Amino acid sequence: MPSSLSGRVILLTGAGSGIGRGTAIKLHGLGAILAITDINEAGIAETLELCGSSNTNSTSHHTSLALDVSKAADVEKCVMDVVSRYGHIDHVFNCAGINPTSMPLTETSEDYFDKLVGVNLKGTYNVTKATIPHMTTPGGSYVNVSSISGWNPSAGTAIYCATKFGVIGFSKCMALELGPKGLRVNVVAPGYIDTPTNAGIAKGTAEARGRMEQGNALGRMGTPDDIAGVVAFLMGDEARYMNGSVVEIDGMLKT
Ligand SMILES: NC(=O)c1ccc[n+]([C@@H]2O[C@H](COP(=O)([O-])OP(=O)(O)OC[C@H]3O[C@@H](n4cnc5c(N)ncnc54)[C@H](O)[C@@H]3O)[C@@H](O)[C@H]2O)c1
Repeated sequence: MPSSLSGRVILLTGAGSGIGRGTAIKLHGLGAILAITDINEAGIAETLELCGSSNTNSTSHHTSLALDVSKAADVEKCVMDVVSRYGHIDHVFNCAGINPTSMPLTETSEDYFDKLVGVNLKGTYNVTKATIPHMTTPGGSYVNVSSISGWNPSAGTAIYCATKFGVIGFSKCMALELGPKGLRVNVVAPGYIDTPTNAGIAKGTAEARGRMEQGNALGRMGTPDDIAGVVAFLMGDEARYMNGSVVEIDGMLKT
């Protein structure tokens, strides 16, 4: 049976690594047409290659574009580039994000605050605002990335938590605002996922990895593909009555 995402135009942010890349590969496999974006140009080139494509002007092929989601003008330009190529956008995956570095608030800097809020929260706002006028076909949707830190507080991650709590609040408001236009907005909330900037992975110690592996009932870390399947489901027709949902994907954390 053909996938309901076949031929759909999907804009992904943060698709040069980790969860964004894994989701691009999944959506490519389902026949979607992808606008693969990230601040990291080498990363998006590699993702494009992993999706078996190269930048061409064909409207049936994926494209990759460098994009800093924290800059509203850059986002506007990127969205216009995508729309001038494909005519519209069907789905958006707001995945670009900065993972936390655990530290007491007194050790955080204004730059660190601005960076996390600028990418994780303002980036989601920028991309959503710029894409709404172009989400013109029925059945469109947004999937935004929060985290288990979107409702679980932990000492040392106040700023990251604030952004991920914020993504949930923002998304639920947008679900109400865009629902009447036929657009759905849902959230994925990953647990410990094996990506290069996950704090424990970045630490590089067996102890840190072991803690994350044993911290959930399934006894392993998640993979980008574990998230990608849920994102594809949320975008697809099977999830047509899901709006404003927050889907935990964490293997069931032990408390
Ligand atoms: N890995 C985890 O355990 C985990 C858990 C919960 C939530 N998340 C969230 O998942 C999302 C993806 O993270 P990941 O773990 O795959 O990390 P990652 O570092 O592998 O990927 C994040 C991507 O975002 C890009 N990015 C950073 N700043 C950007 C900007 N200003 N504009 C555009 N792109 C930018 C990076 O270049 C990178 O390619 C993030 O929002 C993160 O907070 C991750």
